[in-house]
Amino acid sequence: MPAVSTDLEYLEGVHPPLGPVLEEMLKSGRSEGVPIVQPAVGRLLRVLVTAVAPKRVLEIGTAIGFSTLWMASALPAGGRIDTIDPDRSRTDRARRYWLRAGVTDRVRVINEPALRVLPRLAPGIEFAFIDAIKTEYSAYLDALLPKMAPGGVIAVDNLTWSGRIAAGEHDENTEALRAFNETFLHHEQLEATILPVGDGVGLGAVRPHA
Ligand SMILES: C[S@@+](CC[C@H](N)C(=O)[O-])C[C@H]1O[C@@H](n2cnc3c(N)ncnc32)[C@H](O)[C@@H]1O
Repeated sequence: MPAVSTDLEYLEGVHPPLGPVLEEMLKSGRSEGVPIVQPAVGRLLRVLVTAVAPKRVLEIGTAIGFSTLWMASALPAGGRIDTIDPDRSRTDRARRYWLRAGVTDRVRVINEPALRVLPRLAPGIEFAFIDAIKTEYSAYLDALLPKMAPGGVIAVDNLTWSGRIAAGEHDENTEALRAFNETFLHHEQLEATILPVGDGVGLGAVRPHA
């Protein structure tokens, strides 16, 4: 039986190329140590956004706009992404990439900490992606759930945390993510799972009558 790494290599090779803007973002993110999602996660986000066809997307953690671009390129007509990141130098770079990719008019950046922004957002978010401060994930979920549309989907990155959770490590981020996973998977308002894609992607659909 082929090893998992052989399968992953095969799958990377068999997908269409990323295209010039995503490719450049990936290279520069990796070379500068900006923690952006793996291409497999970007592709998953793009499929999910295509399927859900949300008019309103919320992203927590923009960085240089890599995951934003994957989602923006799949939005239906009239669909918009609000993306939150207090680091203006990163989001200014993101905007330049989005301009080149032709998606700037679909994205609004909010340069404030997410926990300050979330309480004032209008309800009706149909798709959300969480990828910011790991110790705040549970608080993001609590603040986000009342803002989600019934049947909306919440995606979350880094839920296997490069093997540190399964390895039983006990640093602050690992503990926070371990606790988050328990909450996420047993939440009465969610139908949720965690997929071994990239660094572990959580997917939770908001139950219509929870
Ligand atoms: C993992 S990176 C996001 C990567 C991005 N989602 C991607 O894959 O292209 C996390 C980002 O969260 C941002 N961040 C830090 N504190 C934050 C906060 N309080 N609220 C929202 N974002 C925050 C950081 O500035 C950083 O750019």
